[in-house]
Order: sequence, then C-alpha cells, then structure tokens
Amino acid sequence: MNLSLEGKNAIVCGSSQGIGYAIAEELAIMGANCILFARNEENLKLAVSQLDISIRQSHNYYSIDFNDVEAVRSLIKKISSQQTIHILINNSGGPKAGPILDATEDQFLQAFNQHLIVNHILTTAVIDGMKKDRYGRIINIISTSVKTPLNNLGVSNTIRWSVAAWAKTLANELGQFGITVNNVLPGATATERNAALIEANAKRQHASAQEIKETMIAAIPAKRFGEASEIAAVAAFLATPAASYVNGVSIPVDGGRTPSI
Ligand SMILES: NC(=O)c1ccc[n+]([C@@H]2O[C@H](COP(=O)([O-])OP(=O)(O)OC[C@H]3O[C@@H](n4cnc5c(N)ncnc54)[C@H](OP(=O)(O)O)[C@@H]3O)[C@@H](O)[C@H]2O)c1
Repeated sequence: MNLSLEGKNAIVCGSSQGIGYAIAEELAIMGANCILFARNEENLKLAVSQLDISIRQSHNYYSIDFNDVEAVRSLIKKISSQQTIHILINNSGGPKAGPILDATEDQFLQAFNQHLIVNHILTTAVIDGMKKDRYGRIINIISTSVKTPLNNLGVSNTIRWSVAAWAKTLANELGQFGITVNNVLPGATATERNAALIEANAKRQHASAQEIKETMIAAIPAKRFGEASEIAAVAAFLATPAASYVNGVSIPVDGGRTPSI
C-alpha cells in the first residue's frame, strides 16, 4: 500500500491548532511539504516549527482570516502560481453555537463565506496544477451533522450540508482527472472547539460543564471523546496514493456516535 506523500505539496487550512494541526503533523510525517493557514501567527509559527523535516520536507505558513474572502483569493492565486498544490485540506473554525431560531442572517452569511465560498476559491485555484500532475486530493473537514443534525448547532448544521453537497458535485466533475474529493466528519473531538461547545451548552442548560461532558460521552459507543490525531489519520489516508479510488464520500470519525450506517 503506497502511503508516501514524498514530493507532494499540501495546504492545510485551520492548522494552527486542533484537527487541522494534527492533519499537518500526519501529512508531514508521510513526507508532504505543508503550507499552514490560520489567523494566529504565533501559533502558526510554533506549529510549523514542530512538523517533521526528517526527509527535508519544507513547511511554511500564512496568517490569513477566512472572513476576508478577497485576501484569501489573492493569497491562493500567489501560492498556486509558484507551485503545484496536490493536497488541499479545507478546514476552519466552526460557526457559533445556538438554536437555529436564534441565528441572525449575518451569522448564516458569514459561515457560508467562511466555509463554502472560501473552500471554492481555494479549490478552483489549485485544480489546474492537480490536473497537470494527475494527482489531487481535496479533503473537507466538516461534521457528523452532515448525517444527522446536532442540537444547538443551527448555523453549523445548515452550512455543513451545503459544503457536503458542493463536495459531492465536485467529486463527480473531477474524478476523471485523478482528483478525489472527500469529506471527513469528526464526532466530538478533544479540541478547543469541543471545550467551547461544552461551555456554551452548560450555560444554556444551566448545568455544569462536567454534566454536559458526561451526557455527551454517554451517547458515544466508544465512551470517550476522539483525539485530533484520530481524525487526522483518516484525512491523511485519503491524501495518499493508496486512496485513489475513494471519491465523493463522507466518512464519520466519531467513535460510532452517528445513529445510521
Ligand atoms: N472538535 C470537535 O468536536 C468537532 C466536531 C465536529 C466538527 N468539528 C469541526 O472541525 C473543524 C475543526 O475543528 P477543531 O476542533 O480543530 O477547531 P479549533 O480547535 O477551534 O481549530 C480551528 C482552526 O481554524 C482556524 N480558524 C478559525 N477561524 C478562522 C478564520 N476565520 N480564518 C482562518 N482560520 C481560522 C483556527 O486558528 P486561528 O484561531 O489561529 O485562526 C484553528 O487553527 C471545525 O469546522 C469544527 O467545527 C469539530
């Protein structure tokens, strides 16, 4: 099984921490050169400095806010004119929690831009290079809410479906060029995002964070939260030559929590 990413260039979005960082770690270990995107420059610098360079991989980072769509457009134009990107990990911070009836129009628009429009801008800019090398892996980190909506994540549930539908359509169009498009759907994963959701739910339900955590864990067959590295392992496999015939799928990595097959 060919799991080598030696000579491949990857952009990993939302990679200053959490799931994105864990994916960058894994891709680097498999030999890829990684370009990290996120806002916090200090965290990005630290993240890049910790990536594997044992076979002379070269890593870099750009501080960029996905709410600034024009800045994303000009950055990716610059990067893709300088090198071929073979692997694109579309990932970003999750939308604010809350019931859908409390969501404002602006919150929907912001999440749509940050998740769908930015994915589209990044993807369309790297496609030509992928086609030329007949190697492309577009991997979207979404959520199990693609399978079943999660309580108190109204905006997120809505936007995730649009990203999944976009990805499936793209997979149909790009499969013939040696490019695959797949989605990884994390369940509750021990990151800052998960801790923030627990706090938000505790506040809303007038319960302690510990109580919320225990209720969440009780609903997971594995009886624990996932680790970012466990989500990263699946994303990294999808990036490899070995995953060449996996296209247009959404894979939950959730310890069995999603109540459907
Ligand atoms: N953790 C979970 O339990 C879980 C479950 C299901 C789905 N997910 C989804 O999986 C994705 C990653 O989750 P995570 O747990 O790794 O989240 P996280 O720990 O909050 O990390 C999010 C990453 O995205 C970056 N980011 C946030 N807003 C950004 C912006 N406007 N522009 C550019 N970068 C931005 C953050 O860095 P900066 O702050 O430096 O920009 C950070 O590197 C999210 O969409 C999340 O909703 C997570």
